[in-house]
Amino acid sequence: MKKLSMEEFAAYCNQYGFIFQGSEIYGGLANTWDYGPLGTRLKNNLKDAWRYYFIQQRENSYEIDSDILMNPTVWEASGHLSSFTDPLLDCKECKTRHRADNLIQEYDASANADAMSQEEMLTYIKEHQIPCPKCGKSNFTDIRQFNLMFATQRGVTQGSTNMIYLRPENAQGEYVNFLNVLRTMRTKLPFSIGQIGKAFRNEITPGNFTFRTIEFEQMEFQTFCKQGTDEELYDYFKEYGISFFQFLGLAKEHLRYHDHEKLAHYAKAACDIEYLFPFGWGEINGTHNRTDFDLKRHQEYSGKSLEYYEEQTKEKYIPYIVESTYGLDRIFLAVMFEALEEEELEGGETRQVLKIHPMLAPVKVSVLPLIKKRHSEKALELYKNLRKHFMVTYDDAGNIGKRYRRGDVIGTPFAVTIDDNTLEHGTVTLRERDSMQQITIDIGELTEYIEKSMRL
Ligand code: GAP
Repeated sequence: MKKLSMEEFAAYCNQYGFIFQGSEIYGGLANTWDYGPLGTRLKNNLKDAWRYYFIQQRENSYEIDSDILMNPTVWEASGHLSSFTDPLLDCKECKTRHRADNLIQEYDASANADAMSQEEMLTYIKEHQIPCPKCGKSNFTDIRQFNLMFATQRGVTQGSTNMIYLRPENAQGEYVNFLNVLRTMRTKLPFSIGQIGKAFRNEITPGNFTFRTIEFEQMEFQTFCKQGTDEELYDYFKEYGISFFQFLGLAKEHLRYHDHEKLAHYAKAACDIEYLFPFGWGEINGTHNRTDFDLKRHQEYSGKSLEYYEEQTKEKYIPYIVESTYGLDRIFLAVMFEALEEEELEGGETRQVLKIHPMLAPVKVSVLPLIKKRHSEKALELYKNLRKHFMVTYDDAGNIGKRYRRGDVIGTPFAVTIDDNTLEHGTVTLRERDSMQQITIDIGELTEYIEKSMRL
């Protein structure tokens, strides 16, 4: 069993309609990517799995969909305007721009640039004469902090403009709706608000295909709780994250925790879950104990009370927030990497197969008439019936082996062949993708059989 490199994987995604380069016919726009028909379905299935795990199965858990554009004071209150920055420096020789922490980390993975101050990073780079990755010389400017938020302008009246921002995280949309959800859902602490949506960051060193991009999707989950219960919830969500990833099919040995030493401006504790990608370990989730920082700041900047009234004790207080956030595009990558294999078959033949959980597969069934002339009428009838329930394809081109392979390579869990037995006895041959085993099954039982295999 062979795993693909990142380059081979990107080529695969392009070939089969999972991910294309953004604005491709114009030569692209660096680090923007478009999801194709199959990629979009997989992404939607991942969102559904997250909804099932985080919203449907949990008590007091509510999903919202807040706007990307928010009142700019939100970003003052959240601290993003002042603190959401990357330490950047320029190579004086070739004029390329780099992140200081990345230069150090790539020079020596054990250096722990995360924990260094700006001055310490600069000293380290100079002392070790770290070379520019582009030109190899070591002659850099001082480090400057660059804000990662994309700014745009909104015309209010002709001639005047207001600066607004594309959100760099979903979380703030959840915080400003704390009171709205509390009131309308008539809920009590602890309760959670989840949201799936786009976020934008002016990353200077994007890369590794879709791993670090400037536009990406997050699935964020905020649990509002009473101070004193926060630490237990924090530990709980770290574990819940691992169980969610296993639920999606990621192997435990490809997952690990990474506790942060240097904390974001809002956090009391922070831990990532990392996945072992072909380029090394990379963050796919973050769990943060944000304390009462966010709601306190929003109360201060909005002038609206964000206190919670606890009926039992008659206490009023600002809740703590434990956040668990998931990068959808990165999880997409991890799930695909985990599942995509080149498998050697008997007789020296190989097949490329995406062994993805049926609930996530972009196409669930391919319907194949054994002999086009004789079986296509019945096969088309079945195809039309099945597509009321699932995403289905119809394939009558080439020999049956080739048609199986076409399903395997995009992760279709089942192939159903219509043959003379279907016409005479009402049975079909159902072939399973991973084991390649075939069973004979009554055509009337097909829907239920497939439905069962896809249950979450
Ligand atoms: N609300 C907290 C927050 O945004 P984060 O760790 O900065 O925390 C959360 O981001 C998740 O979003 C990360 O775990 C990662 O999966 C994803 N993410 C962050 N930056 C990204 C980028 N430039 N490209 C793709 N995904 C990204």
